[in-house]
Formats: sequence, C-alpha cells, structure tokens
Amino acid sequence: MFLSSSTGILILQWLLFLTALFPSSVTADSTRKNFLQCLSQHQRSSCFTARNSSFSAILKSTAQNLRFLMPYVQKPQAIFMPASETDVQAAVRCGKQLGIQLRVRSGGHDYEGVSYASEMGEPFVVIDMAKLRSVTVDVDGNSAWVEAGATLGELYYRISESSSVNGFPAGVCTSLGVGGHIAGGGYGTMMRKYGLGADHILDVRMVDADGNILDRESMKEDLFWAIRGGGGGSFGIILAWKVQLVPVPEKVTVFAVRKTLEQGLTKLINKWQQVAHKLDDNLFIRVIVQPNKNNNNNNTVIGLFKALFLGQTDPLIQIMAHSFPELGLAEEDCTEMSWIESVLYSFGYPTGTSPQVLLYGKPLFKPNYFKAKSDFVRDLIPTSGLEGIWSWIMDGDGSLIILNPYGGIMSQIPESQISFPHRNGTLFQIYYQVSWQDGNITAARHMDWIRKLYSFMRPYVSKSPRKAYVNYRDLDLGMNKEGNTNYVEASAWGRKYFGDNFKRLVQIKTKVDPDNFFRHEQSIPPHLNFNG
Ligand SMILES: Cc1cc2nc3c(=O)[nH]c(=O)nc-3n(C[C@H](O)[C@H](O)[C@H](O)COP(=O)(O)OP(=O)(O)OC[C@H]3O[C@@H](n4cnc5c(N)ncnc54)[C@H](O)[C@@H]3O)c2cc1C
Ligand SMILES: *[C@@H]1O[C@H](CO)[C@@H](O)[C@H](O)[C@H]1NC(C)=O
Ligand SMILES: *[C@@H]1O[C@H](CO)[C@@H](O)[C@H](O)[C@H]1NC(C)=O
Ligand SMILES: *[C@@H]1O[C@H](CO)[C@@H](O)[C@H](O)[C@H]1NC(C)=O
Ligand SMILES: *[C@@H]1O[C@H](CO)[C@@H](O)[C@H](O)[C@H]1NC(C)=O
Repeated sequence: MFLSSSTGILILQWLLFLTALFPSSVTADSTRKNFLQCLSQHQRSSCFTARNSSFSAILKSTAQNLRFLMPYVQKPQAIFMPASETDVQAAVRCGKQLGIQLRVRSGGHDYEGVSYASEMGEPFVVIDMAKLRSVTVDVDGNSAWVEAGATLGELYYRISESSSVNGFPAGVCTSLGVGGHIAGGGYGTMMRKYGLGADHILDVRMVDADGNILDRESMKEDLFWAIRGGGGGSFGIILAWKVQLVPVPEKVTVFAVRKTLEQGLTKLINKWQQVAHKLDDNLFIRVIVQPNKNNNNNNTVIGLFKALFLGQTDPLIQIMAHSFPELGLAEEDCTEMSWIESVLYSFGYPTGTSPQVLLYGKPLFKPNYFKAKSDFVRDLIPTSGLEGIWSWIMDGDGSLIILNPYGGIMSQIPESQISFPHRNGTLFQIYYQVSWQDGNITAARHMDWIRKLYSFMRPYVSKSPRKAYVNYRDLDLGMNKEGNTNYVEASAWGRKYFGDNFKRLVQIKTKVDPDNFFRHEQSIPPHLNFNG
C-alpha cells in the first residue's frame, strides 16, 4: 500500500476506533499498540460513536425520513465525518481490512434511509460527507467542482453569485446532497431543455473499494458511465463532481395556476398529457395534485400547474395561447425573475426569500414520516383512469402526486448514454407520496394506501418491466411474496430502475467491486445470474 503518513495515522485511529466497536476483529495487543500511537496524534476528523452525547443529533442532522429514526430501525455503530479526501480513503481502507460495512451519506434524502439506517442486520458505520461541501465555480471554463456534501442549493447559489447567465439543471429540492442526487440522475425544472444533472458531469473524484482516488481518466469510461445514473452507494464514495454549467437568460418567467375538479381539472390534465412533452423545450409545466378537504364535506382535488419558462412573459403567453389555451394563462399569472429566484420559487419558498437561504443547508420542510413511489407514463391515461386517481387522492390523507413532463432533450439522449435509462417515449413521470406526523400510529394505514394506489395504476403506466426512478428508492420493488425484501435476487428491481442498462451495471460492479464492499439494500450486486 502506498499511503501518506497522515493516512497511516488515520488508519491507526480507525483501527483503534473500530476495534472498540467490534472487539473480536483485532487482538488486544494491536489494540493497545494502536491506542498508544493514536494518543499522540491530533484528531482531525470527527467520529461519533453511539455512546457519544452528540450521536443522535448528528444522526438526525440530515435524515429526511423519520421512519428510519424509529427505535426499532437498526442504527449505525458510529458516524465518521471526514474532513479531507485522505480521511475518506482511510475509512475505506480500514473498513475493507476489518470487514466493516460502510454506508455513505451526503444530503440524507434517501427515500428508504439506506444512507443512515439498515434493514440488513449487519453492523455498519456511516461516512457522512457533511464537512466536504466546497463549491468552486470557473465561469470562464463554464464549469464548477462541487464536493459531495454540498447541497444543490449551495451549488445553485454559488453559480448565480458568479454569473447571472449560468445555471445547473438538477433537482427542484434545494436541500438534496449532490453526492447521492447526481449519482441517481437528478431532474428538475430545466430537464426538458438540458436533461439531468448526471448528463452534465465532466469529471469526478471518487474513492474506490481499495481506497484509491480515481478521476474520469483513471477510472475509464465504463465506471464513469455507471456512476452517472446507476444510483449512490454501489461503486465508491464520490468526493466531488465537476459539473458543466448551462446558459440561462437574465430573466426567466414562472407561473402557478390552480384548478379544482369543479374548474375542469380532469379536462385540463387530459390536455396537459397531450401537450406538456411536446411544448417548446424552454417550457416545463409540472402538475402538483393534492386533495382539498374542507369543512363543508365537499372535498375536491386541486391541481397546481407550476411552470418555469426560460424566457420572458410575451413569448410564454404566445406559446400557451397556441398549445394550451384551455389553461387560460394570463399576463397577471406570470412573474419574471432571475434564475436563482426561480429556484426558490419552484421549490416553494415564500416570495421575497433571499437566495442566501440556500447557504444555510436547512431543508425547507420539516422532516416527517413518508413513503413514495414512481412511475413512467408512455400512453395517455384515459379519463376513467384520471377519475380513479382523484378518488384515491381524496381518500388518502397527506397524499401528493406530481406529474413531471418529459420530452425535449430527454427524448433525444440515447437510453445507453449514461446509466439513467428513462428517455424517449416517456410522456411524463409520476411521483406518489404520502406523509404523516404521528410516527408508527398511522404508518400501516398510509403504507397500505400508497401500495394500493400503486396497484391501481398498473394498467396506465410502463410495462414489462414497470419502470421506476432509482432516486425515488422503493424497497417494495424487491419484496418477495412473504413481504421480505429479497436482497439476493436483485433482477426484480434492477430492470425497473435501469432497464437494459442494468446488465452492464452488474458487469461493471463485478469488475470494480467483486467483494461487494459498497452495498446496501438496493445497491448493484456483483455476480448476478441473468437467466432470461
Ligand atoms: C424532499 C425531497 C425532494 C426531492 N426532489 C427531487 C427532485 O426534484 N429531483 C430528483 O431527481 N430527485 C429528488 N429527490 C430524490 C433525491 O434525488 C434522492 O433522494 C437522492 O438520492 C438524494 O441524495 P442525497 O445525497 O441527499 O441522499 P443520501 O441519503 O445522502 O444518499 C442517497 C443514496 O446515495 C448514496 N450516496 C450518498 N452520498 C454518496 C457519495 N458521496 N458517494 C456515493 N454514494 C453516495 C447513499 O448511500 C444512498 O444510497 C427528492 C427527495 C426528497 C426527500
Ligand atoms: C463526541 O465525539 C466528538 C467527535 O469525535 C468529540 O470531539 C467529543 O469529545 C465526543 N464527546 C464525548 C462526550 O465523548
Ligand atoms: C363547497 O362549499 C362551498 C362553501 O359552502 C361552496 O361555496 C361551494 O359551491 C361548494 N362546492 C361544491 C362543489 O359543492
Ligand atoms: C422517439 O420515439 C419515437 C416513437 O417511438 C420515434 O418516432 C422517434 O424517432 C424517437 N426519437 C429518437 C430521437 O430516438
Ligand atoms: C411499528 O413498530 C413496530 C415495533 O414497535 C414494528 O414492528 C412495526 O413494523 C412498525 N410498523 C410500521 C408500519 O412501521
């Protein structure tokens, strides 16, 4: 091994620390020796063991889904917060040497909590990237290096601070970590014009399963292909991405038009299905569908048509009058603003919020308990299907559906360009979510609701296999008949997330991490048999 002396010291510290956690793995002699050496060293990175009084605060710090902080869910033995790339290498080398499972957390938004909780039963340590969050923008080079622990909001803010005519096309939610988000694709309001975050990666720095730092050149194109869309936690620990900036106008235009069933929502969504994927690439109109329950017992469904247009009001009004006049978009509905203001608007920050809020790293919404699923729609959903959805929505409580239009450049990029596969032929993506506040009390009812809605949707969505978005991770997809998650037979969810790209992902995993060091409930498995 070629290690710098500081890496060596860190490894010793780790050996000591891991020995305390897993006493059987190292002899008492080496423990003492390591201990003595460790004492003489200055600790550079924080490591919180479960006995540390700050442990639970650190664990919670970015955990978005409270379902995975429940007492009966398996927690890490410790959380390590590397302060440098060398620390990450040391963690991987020690973890590998001692056979300790590591999990990586950047923004903590994983839907099934696999970055900080486990359903696999083995003890594990979380490598939390929160201290590695610098963003360096190179305006002349049209690019930026962003460390894995930075949030999307930090990246967007730093870009806008350096240039009023550049942006980056990734997620709507500004508290996502770039480490996990881009690894799974990363779509947002500029998807129809520019594609995904993962479509705009120029280079990378990643620690592999041997603890080496690789970049695009040294990892070769196969692995570079796999980490752009193949989902986090399978191939290595992303240290930083080099992203390519995209041009945005000085002024963009946004609108949000709200319609209830009584105001003709069904007809409008019918029309939206036909046009949203064909509109000018500069226009992205998503529909956020929620129940509206009032005291008069006349419940209804509200659809919010929320849009970003990369241009000004006049051409937007013309496009809408020509392609979607039924929505009745008027000048008063439209607001022109800078791109960074539109980032706040699209996610739902109140008007007038300062973009600096993006630097605080705090999520806009309080963490709650939730479960989500996704679908891709390739054929128009008939009116009867839409009406079925409305009754599910009205039945649910804490329910939310978002329809995200595809088309534009998403149809031009070949399915095999990067490992994210959902491209041409997709009209729109559906996101289903249910959330609640009372922990375990109503969990079963809510979980049951979303699973039943998902079965109801089967006839209306992509088939053989039914596709899903890996960043909307759903452990139900790997469930066997007994209701247990089947970790071994990954082909069930693999083709749903990755289509024909799954096979190549497995081949690459087998080559770069045959021992399956980087693993979680739905990581890409090595050595999978494809029998048909
Ligand atoms: C409120 C909310 C809104 C969302 N909005 C969008 C959206 O608009 N668009 C969209 O595309 N998605 C969206 N998502 C989904 C989001 O993209 C995924 O949850 C994504 O995986 C989050 O990345 P993270 O780093 O925050 O999460 P984490 O929980 O930290 O990580 C997610 C996965 O990546 C792995 N991982 C984390 N860091 C690294 C690393 N440095 N190297 C390698 N693997 C790593 C983890 O082990 C885990 O498997 C949203 C999620 C939530 C909860
Ligand atoms: C908890 O861990 C941190 C980081 O390693 C350390 O600085 C602190 O002293 C620990 N606190 C206790 C009470 O052990
Ligand atoms: C719902 O109730 C409100 C308030 O009483 C009323 O104005 C509205 O017309 C009702 N809508 C329907 C569809 O009955
Ligand atoms: C996308 O699919 C449609 C219909 O299946 C086809 O006509 C079109 O040529 C495809 N476009 C690309 C860029 O592959
Ligand atoms: C509720 O908690 C119990 C343990 O207290 C657990 O076994 C069960 O799976 C939980 N139910 C749900 C739906 O999370």
